[in-house]
Amino acid sequence: MEKISVKTEGAVSDILIGMKWEGVGNMLPGSGVAIITDSNVNRIYGEKFPDFPVFVVKPGEVSKKLEDIEFLAERLLESGIDRSGFILGIGGGVVCDIAGFLASIYMRGIRCAYVSSTLLSQVDASTGGKNGVNLGSTKNLLGCFRQPEFVICDPAMLQTLPEEEYFSGLAELIKTGIIGNRKLFEIIENNHERIIRRDAELLAMLISMAVGVKASVVSEDEKEGGLRRILNFGHTFGHAIELYKSFRHGYAVASGMELAISFSVAKGYLPVDESERILNLLKSFKLLRRHEVPLSQIGVLLRHDKKKIGDDMYFVFAQGIGKVTVEKIPLNEIIEFYRGGLASR
Ligand SMILES: NC(=O)c1ccc[n+]([C@@H]2O[C@H](COP(=O)([O-])OP(=O)(O)OC[C@H]3O[C@@H](n4cnc5c(N)ncnc54)[C@H](O)[C@@H]3O)[C@@H](O)[C@H]2O)c1
Repeated sequence: MEKISVKTEGAVSDILIGMKWEGVGNMLPGSGVAIITDSNVNRIYGEKFPDFPVFVVKPGEVSKKLEDIEFLAERLLESGIDRSGFILGIGGGVVCDIAGFLASIYMRGIRCAYVSSTLLSQVDASTGGKNGVNLGSTKNLLGCFRQPEFVICDPAMLQTLPEEEYFSGLAELIKTGIIGNRKLFEIIENNHERIIRRDAELLAMLISMAVGVKASVVSEDEKEGGLRRILNFGHTFGHAIELYKSFRHGYAVASGMELAISFSVAKGYLPVDESERILNLLKSFKLLRRHEVPLSQIGVLLRHDKKKIGDDMYFVFAQGIGKVTVEKIPLNEIIEFYRGGLASR
């Protein structure tokens, strides 16, 4: 097992990679614990949950809304969870976002931790302390920063993930290689077959490398005032595509990376051979899908992105595998680039 600590102002969050999730009971207080999960995870793993009250939400984005938070808070109150209580989220990014948000506002904040059960949440969502819910169609508009005390990432749980969910997480893993660890990218490139068969040993190593990148970024810039923006590589167009096409998050990010890469080449920041290598890797795992968003929509969707600042946006460009740069550019320039791409198709 590997432990990576995210150190932020006043908090240390331990990410435990390769630990068997069934051991979580030994890390919890003896009483006052509430478990939050979704119905899929509960069906597969619920029998082995520690013996505490379990509150189950519907799987997926539908549960990331204030109504669900209110409903869960009522259940916590009924179960006698007080200020000394502890919330354990067991699930993917949705459950972790809900559990973390609820823990940060219930009685002005109680303790929390996660057992992270999807590849996407193990490599990305459950590290870094961001949580929140959607407001209508605007993703993650309501939320805050709160570091979970610990996160268990057990690659054995990934064996039961549906194919689409697994590959969605792989896209975020590849993103992490592009933004900050060339070696991670190359290991993925050179181990296609082991990745397809979800080799637990390899996955534990890759998850550790990805968490290492995210932990060092978050430890330096928890609240996204600067460096943390690099984590959004592929996400500007990705979020628009996710909303318009209803792709799974990682697939939308893969398409967003495809666009960000060609924007980077067009700006002269990324050599063509590096861009081809990235695109080939995404294609080799069938992560790229047709993703045209009509021009009439792209501007509207980008304007709803909470990363917009006035008429500008921070855009993450690739400079090479393992190196990116962030530039504040006019939103219109991003829309114009997209218009040019559509016209040339
Ligand atoms: N807080 C952050 O920093 C951050 C970062 C990235 C993404 N996110 C959020 O994460 C969410 C996406 O996370 P996700 O992709 O994990 O989605 P998810 O939580 O909806 O899980 C995907 C599906 O897999 C099922 N599942 C989970 N674990 C399983 C397992 N071990 N075996 C079988 N099925 C399992 C779930 O029931 C669900 O149907 C989005 O809401 C996104 O906004 C948050």
